[in-house]
Amino acid sequence: MTQGNDAVAFAEAYLDRTIAELKEFAKIPGISANPAPCPELARSAAHCAAWMTRIGLENVEVLELPGVHPYVYGEWLHAEGAPTLLLYAHHDVQPPGRPAFWKSPAFEPEERDGRLYGRGVVDDKAGAAIHFAAIEAFLKTGGLPVNVKVVIDGEEEIGSENLGTFLDRYRERLAADVIVLTDTANLSAGLPSITYALRGITVVHLEVKSIDHPLHSGMWGGPVPDPVMAICKMLATLTDADGNVTIDGVGGEIAAMDPVVRDRLAKLPYDEAVFRAEAGILDGVELCRGNGGGPYELMWHRPSLSISALEAAPIKGASNQIVDSARARIGVRTVPDMDGRKVAEALCAHLAKRAPWGVQVSTTIDGAGNWWITDPRGPAFEAAERALAKGFGREPVYIGCGGSIPFVEPFARVLGGVPALLIGLEDPLCNAHSENESLLLTDFHKAIVSAIHLYEELATLPRKG
Ligand code: BES
Ligand code: MN
Ligand code: MN
Repeated sequence: MTQGNDAVAFAEAYLDRTIAELKEFAKIPGISANPAPCPELARSAAHCAAWMTRIGLENVEVLELPGVHPYVYGEWLHAEGAPTLLLYAHHDVQPPGRPAFWKSPAFEPEERDGRLYGRGVVDDKAGAAIHFAAIEAFLKTGGLPVNVKVVIDGEEEIGSENLGTFLDRYRERLAADVIVLTDTANLSAGLPSITYALRGITVVHLEVKSIDHPLHSGMWGGPVPDPVMAICKMLATLTDADGNVTIDGVGGEIAAMDPVVRDRLAKLPYDEAVFRAEAGILDGVELCRGNGGGPYELMWHRPSLSISALEAAPIKGASNQIVDSARARIGVRTVPDMDGRKVAEALCAHLAKRAPWGVQVSTTIDGAGNWWITDPRGPAFEAAERALAKGFGREPVYIGCGGSIPFVEPFARVLGGVPALLIGLEDPLCNAHSENESLLLTDFHKAIVSAIHLYEELATLPRKG
């Protein structure tokens, strides 16, 4: 363990520099929702590649595929006979949202009260930085105890759609004994958490039209169908009064929850007042109770449906009109054994059937990630438990994740079902995807120390052969 201790000492001595590097990284607006090729994503990938080269990774390469935001790869394979870790994070970020709601500009990272604020700081540039800091600490103090292959995704936030191409092309090169991803949550600040399940996501865009141009609502209102009212009626049929998803033909395929999982959820700390405060739920607003399973079950093990965008006409400049069309973006989070594609098709058929007054309906499907679930037992998980306990000074908990990471399911499968360890720093106050995204710096420190212990613990993992 002496080498690990040297590495920890190195990482701690260089923590301020790592944070400074993270800040530089977070200044790059690598928003993958922008069309590829996108110069900011190229800059973000180049920044990543330079950082990876500087810490001593080898064969660092920006993987360019036409029309695809760049992935970055690097490796260090000199721990002969030791296991190989595939380390994953993503460098692309979400759009910043509403500039006026940011207390400091999204791409000018700023530290306030122990948190670093900026778009992408926690999702997922800190995820990349954890691995980089841990790798550097070992390489500057005698070498890594394991082999590492590092993949930094450039299109995670739009569903890693070209993962298949990427996988086919680099399959040989990516063989590994265990996958370590730093892109998930901690149940609360300071509480290290290992994620054993992800939901999938599938997105449908809906447009409803009734007239070929907007009309004076006084001249025409009455007989002429309002497309906004139509879309509202249609959307209202997608969940019931308790928030359960009610898409025709969907639900029967949902697997019963494993009693072991149910037990695990029951043991997790939960305080409704804290939950409400962290989510920012306003006074008088009730939680949806779904089928009664409790919030962890609802967020991690049941499907959910959100209207992430809705538009017809802006309030500003509105007049007394019947507008001509309305649009919505509908996201469905899926769980075992739902088939994302079938859910999307069922959703489109459901909506078409619910269109009042024969309004014209068009739908398009945006496929994305699959759900994933694992039984978190065996030496890799035990190694992670020990490493996180050392790094955070607290025993880790196992949690599900309501979000999606498209990389996990196909990679774990293609690599022959190797264990995937999902850890990260997205705590309930981090505001990922929202304004004022932030990273808790004390946990960033602990996560780096944990990663160092993790690499060392995994060095004794039995190899896949
Ligand atoms: N880091 C998140 C995944 C996540 C969500 C972790 C919630 C912990 C809690 C990831 O960057 C993400 O946002 N994924 C997208 C994937 C989608 C575009 C396919 C998501 O879940 O919306
Ligand atoms: Mn992420
Ligand atoms: Mn994200």
